[in-house]
Amino acid sequence: MSRIHRYEGEDIIVEFDLSRCIHTGDCTRGLPAVFDTKRSGRWVHPDGAPATEVARICAACPTGALRCISKASGQAMDSPPAENTIQPVADGPLYVHGIMRVNGKALNTFRAAFCRCGRSRLMPWCDNSHRQSHFHDNGKIPYPPAPAAAHRSAPLEIHVDADGPLTIDGPFTLLDAAGNKQYCGDKAAFCRCGASAMKPYCDGAHRTRGFGRDQ
Ligand code: FES
Repeated sequence: MSRIHRYEGEDIIVEFDLSRCIHTGDCTRGLPAVFDTKRSGRWVHPDGAPATEVARICAACPTGALRCISKASGQAMDSPPAENTIQPVADGPLYVHGIMRVNGKALNTFRAAFCRCGRSRLMPWCDNSHRQSHFHDNGKIPYPPAPAAAHRSAPLEIHVDADGPLTIDGPFTLLDAAGNKQYCGDKAAFCRCGASAMKPYCDGAHRTRGFGRDQ
C-alpha cells in the first residue's frame, strides 16, 4: 500500500510516502522550517530552505519515506551510496541503504525500513508495531555468516518470503545497531517474524511460530 503526498515548491517537489514513515524525526529535527508537524495545514514547506538542503534531509530519511525531485530535471535529487549497508535498529526495524529491488520490483528510493517483529500491518515495511508487540533485540550481530569480502558495488536483490525471512542477495556491509561495521557479505537471510534466537538472522523459528501473512 502506498499513500504518497506531494508538496510543490518553486524549484522542487517533496514526495512523502505515509506508508513508509515511522516518525523517526530526522526531518523535523534536521530542517524544522521545512518539515513542521506543529503547523496547521500542510506539514512540508519545500521553500523553507535551499533546495539542496531539503534534498539532503530527504535523502537521509532512513525509511525512504521522503523524496526530493528537481522540477527542472524531473529527477530525484539523491544518489546511491558507494557501499550498500544493512543495519538492525535496537528493538526496531532493519534499515537497508543502497540500490534495491524488492521481490523483483525496483524501489525508487535508496533507503527502506523492513519489519523485524512480524507484526507490521504494512509488510514488508516497518510501521512501528514493534512498540506495541514489545519486540526486543539489542541490535548486536551474533556471528558473521560469511568471511569478510572486498566490497563490490551492485544492486541488492531482496526477496520477502511470505512465511519466512528477508533474503538479501548482493554485496553489503552489515552494521550493528551502534553503526560499527561487522563484515561484508553477499547473501544472508534476516528474520522478519521476530522469533529467531539469532537475530538479526533467521534461524528457522518462523516455522514453529507459524509465521505467515500477506505483504
Ligand atoms: S523469519 Fe524469523 S526465524 Fe525465520
